[in-house]
Amino acid sequence: MSLSSLVESRRVLVTVGAGGVGKTTTAAALGVAAARRGKRVLCLTIDPAKRLAESLGIAEMTSEAVTVDKARFEAVGVSVSGSLTAMMLDTKRTFDELVLKYSSSKEKAEKLLGNKLYQYVSTSLAGTQEYMAMEKLVAVKDDPRYDIVILDTPPTANALDFLDAPERLIEALDSATMKWFVEAFQSSG
Ligand SMILES: Nc1ncnc2c1ncn2[C@@H]1O[C@H](COP(=O)(O)OP(=O)(O)OP(=O)(O)O)[C@@H](O)[C@H]1O
Ligand SMILES: [Mg+2]
Repeated sequence: MSLSSLVESRRVLVTVGAGGVGKTTTAAALGVAAARRGKRVLCLTIDPAKRLAESLGIAEMTSEAVTVDKARFEAVGVSVSGSLTAMMLDTKRTFDELVLKYSSSKEKAEKLLGNKLYQYVSTSLAGTQEYMAMEKLVAVKDDPRYDIVILDTPPTANALDFLDAPERLIEALDSATMKWFVEAFQSSG
């Protein structure tokens, strides 16, 4: 299937692959292509190069959705009948939002957010970035404000690893090693 028909017919597109192959650039280019075809596009991106972030209007570190000003496209002679909204994925922030959403009280959420082990897991454990990319995708995939969602992903050695990442993360969290780690951590304060 050609890229143009994918852009026309799909609701979600995901760019995957090894480090530095062009996932982020391709996600942005697909976003522009879809917006030119009249789609309202949401592009979820991870750590884009500085110039790309600037051209998407998300130069500042933010995970808020930013809609690219039409004047930016016009200035380079590109006519866009749809719209392109970009959002930078922030693993820690998405994790924190999950905690706030599912905690039974604000106090419990704050206690967890302040926990050192939580802070480690939410930023450093292998697989958290992929997990959060999936989490964000689930949160926005049915958003009626967008016709198509394009998801950029962190580097994976095997493209399909990305799909298993949430399961691997959950297995890691449930593992005996992690339980031992939590207990050791708690007893030492
Ligand atoms: N089609 C292309 N032709 C030439 N250079 C490209 C192309 N696509 C991307 N690049 C360049 O390759 C470099 C890496 O691109 P990009 O950041 O999109 O890769 P990535 O797969 O997202 O990397 P990472 O795995 O680090 O997230 C950038 O300097 C970019 O400008
Ligand atoms: Mg990238």
